[in-house]
Amino acid sequence: MDRAFVAPEPVVPRDPVALVTGAAKRVGRAIALELARAGHDIAIHHRASPEEAQSVAAQIRALGRRAVVVHADLVVAGEVAALFRSVDEAFGRLDVLVNCAAVFRRTPVESLTEADFDFHVAANLKAPYLCCLEAAPRMKASGRGCIVNITDVAAERPFRSHVPYCVSKAGLDMLTKSLAKALAPAITVNAVAPGTVLFRDDESDDDRRRVIARIPQGRIGTPEDIARAVRFLVESPHVTGVTLAVDGGRSLD
Ligand SMILES: NC(=O)c1ccc[n+]([C@@H]2O[C@H](COP(=O)([O-])OP(=O)(O)OC[C@H]3O[C@@H](n4cnc5c(N)ncnc54)[C@H](OP(=O)(O)O)[C@@H]3O)[C@@H](O)[C@H]2O)c1
Repeated sequence: MDRAFVAPEPVVPRDPVALVTGAAKRVGRAIALELARAGHDIAIHHRASPEEAQSVAAQIRALGRRAVVVHADLVVAGEVAALFRSVDEAFGRLDVLVNCAAVFRRTPVESLTEADFDFHVAANLKAPYLCCLEAAPRMKASGRGCIVNITDVAAERPFRSHVPYCVSKAGLDMLTKSLAKALAPAITVNAVAPGTVLFRDDESDDDRRRVIARIPQGRIGTPEDIARAVRFLVESPHVTGVTLAVDGGRSLD
C-alpha cells in the first residue's frame, strides 16, 4: 500500500535562544536585532566593545526579548568554553549559534608571514569550530538547533592582497558543509557569504567606486541584508549545508 510521506512539523521552542558572536557592532549587531525581532532571546557576544554590546542589549529588551551580554576572546579555547557556560547560566538552553566575529587584515603577498596565517585562521576558522563543538551537544539536548556561519564571497573568489583571510573563510565554508552532514538531522548548519557590506575607513573613494561598479545591483549590501538572510536560514529547517551569497550578484562574474 502506498503511503504518502508526511513531513514532520518543525518543533519551534517557545522562547528560542540565539548566541551571536561579534554582535556589538556592524553586521553582528544587525543579526542580533533581526533574530530578536524573529522572537529569539539573544546572547550578545563581544570581545572589546562592552558599551556597544550593552546598547544592543537595551535595544533588544525594548523589543520585548531577553538579552545578555557575554564576553570572550574567541581565539582562547578556555574563554570559548566559559562563554557557553555563561549562556547556560543566563538562559539554560541554546537554539541558534551565529558565528559572525572575524578579523580582516590586508596582507600583501610580498610580505606574508606565518603570523598573518595564524591570526586569520585562529579567529575566522578555529574560533567558529570551537563554538560549534560547544553548541552542538547543547542543541542536541533540546532536540534541534541551527548554526549559521558568516563567510565571504572571497572564500570562492579570492582577493589578491588577503590570502590568509580568504583561506580562513574557505575553511569555514567546508566546516559548514562537513558539520551539516555530521550533525544532521538534529542540527542544520549553513553559511551566509556577504559581498562588500560596509567599507573600511582606509578605502578611498576611487576604491569604493571600483567595488560598486562590479556589483550588478549597483550598490554594496547593508548589515540588514545579511541579517535577513540569516533569519531565512534560521527559519528554514529543511535547508542545510548551503552557502547563501548575499552580494548583489557580484559573484556572478
Ligand atoms: N563588512 C563587510 O563588508 C563584510 C564582507 C564580507 C564578509 N564579511 C563577514 O561578515 C562578518 C561581519 O563583518 P563585520 O565587518 O561586521 O565584522 P568586523 O567589524 O570586522 O568584526 C566583527 C567583530 O568581530 C569581533 N572579533 C574579532 N576578533 C575576535 C576575537 N578574537 N574574539 C572575539 N571577537 C572577535 C570584534 O568584536 P569586538 O569589537 O567586541 O572586539 C568585532 O567587532 C565577518 O565574519 C566578516 O568576515 C563582512
